[in-house]
Amino acid sequence: MTTIQTVAFDDQKPGTSGLRKKTNVFMQPHYLENFVQAIFNAIGGVRGKTLVLGGDGRFYNDRAVQIILRMAAASGAAKVIVGQGGVLSTPAASNLIRQRKTDGGIILSASHNPGGEDEDFGIKFNMANGGPAPESVTEAMFREASVLVSYNITETADIDLGALGETEIGGMAVEVVDCVADYAALMETLFDFDAIRAMFAGGFTMRFDAMCAVTGPYATEILEGRLGAAAGTVTHGTPLPDFGGMHPDPNPTWAHELMDEMMGPNAPDFGAASDGDGDRNMVVGRGIYVSPSDSLAVLAANAHLAKGYAKGLAGVARSMPTSAAVDRVAVDLGIAAYETPTGWKFFGNLLDAGRATLCGEESFGTGSDHVREKDGLWAVLMWLNILAVRKQSVADILAAHWAKYGRNYYSRHDFEGVDKDKADLMMGSLRKSLAGLPGTQIEGLTISAADDFAYTDPVDGSVSSKQGVRILFEDGSRIVMRLSGTGTQGATLRVYLEQYAEAGFDRDPQEALASVIRAAHELAQITHFTGRTEPDVIT
Ligand code: G1P
Ligand code: ZN
Repeated sequence: MTTIQTVAFDDQKPGTSGLRKKTNVFMQPHYLENFVQAIFNAIGGVRGKTLVLGGDGRFYNDRAVQIILRMAAASGAAKVIVGQGGVLSTPAASNLIRQRKTDGGIILSASHNPGGEDEDFGIKFNMANGGPAPESVTEAMFREASVLVSYNITETADIDLGALGETEIGGMAVEVVDCVADYAALMETLFDFDAIRAMFAGGFTMRFDAMCAVTGPYATEILEGRLGAAAGTVTHGTPLPDFGGMHPDPNPTWAHELMDEMMGPNAPDFGAASDGDGDRNMVVGRGIYVSPSDSLAVLAANAHLAKGYAKGLAGVARSMPTSAAVDRVAVDLGIAAYETPTGWKFFGNLLDAGRATLCGEESFGTGSDHVREKDGLWAVLMWLNILAVRKQSVADILAAHWAKYGRNYYSRHDFEGVDKDKADLMMGSLRKSLAGLPGTQIEGLTISAADDFAYTDPVDGSVSSKQGVRILFEDGSRIVMRLSGTGTQGATLRVYLEQYAEAGFDRDPQEALASVIRAAHELAQITHFTGRTEPDVIT
């Protein structure tokens, strides 16, 4: 074991989901090591502890895993459970942390950001409950990282992570496990695999775009292997370090190949895609796109059809910018609905306390209390289970849902690569204007309230402020604006737009939301501050 003198880094502040930087930033001497030591220090050391370790397989995953193993050994960890090849999807890692009752885990991923030497890399720590470290812990990591003077590492050759089984490194056990097995077993406890298998046997067709990312082996084993979907159901199923040049973000813009097929003449019955680390999902029916907010609402309304949720839901939770569609289902079911800040870490306490069973975000994240991360394939299997029981098309299920609850027209507009100072100025000016907005009219809409969202965790009482500007209108429409906390360059402005309709469910969301969109531009003076007139990505 050697102790290496390091220089502290002052930019290791975890964002919405761990520390994300350009890959070559992580590859600088001592950079990764510095943050790993900061994690260890922030959680009170790892002596005698057992950790899970794995990543989404992107460029530098293999090197980083070896470094982290040697550092864990040097700091006295008892054992590290690693996915074969150093790979684990984020939900599978969360599951392993819980199943094996470990002290937590390190996940290497920049989620849906592109991968490669010139793209993005990331690292985060999940607690013993399987969920992302809460703000108090990520803040401690940041503090540690910025004052660190040294880190410990064991000098040894690389460990072979290709073969399953147990080895050791400097007295620490290293167990290499199959990446898929435990996760697939968990899915079988939640969903009716026989019913889904019968549906596929009856000719049901599906396309799952794994986007050359981590879900490929999971989807192939579960959908084609265990559920009997036709060979070729899973496309881009081989994970690649640069995701084959794809931007592994499952939305209509980046999963356009899948969208084209689903909107085309020979579309399969059902389409889905997942992201770099397997925690996001996009769901598409033949000829119809399902917005993530609607997907959450449909899953909540139909969850009882899946055996793992047959008892009903304790409650539902959504991030504040997510549409209120699921709230209407909660009212109907007579269960609690929680509204949290953006980021999965805010769901952890609600899930641990048994207050919420299903959670979701508008950013293609859905999950439940089976793990403490959002889970892409889980959402796809939940949909398949519902389709197998209801024996209706996705379009019919959505139409029936809107007929019962009304439709929350919804869209998110992203302005990417905006100058950070300009974006901060814009948000600052918008925040200053909030107090004077209620009662005023814009684009024929009357503003009823305007604030900066603050959240008090109902379980531990912790307060998170400045979580996004909300402008609410008298007719129930809403604008939310915030800056992304996951980017690695400049700023990304996210504008979330919503309008509730009790009739007329077949409109194009952009058209239905036109006046809300214009109001957002006027209120925030987006063009004046950023020079942008049009968003880069619309979901
Ligand atoms: C984005 C999403 C957010 C999600 C996070 C991690 O964060 O908007 O809902 O939890 O990625 O997947 P943002 O870039 O907006 O901070
Ligand atoms: Zn992800």
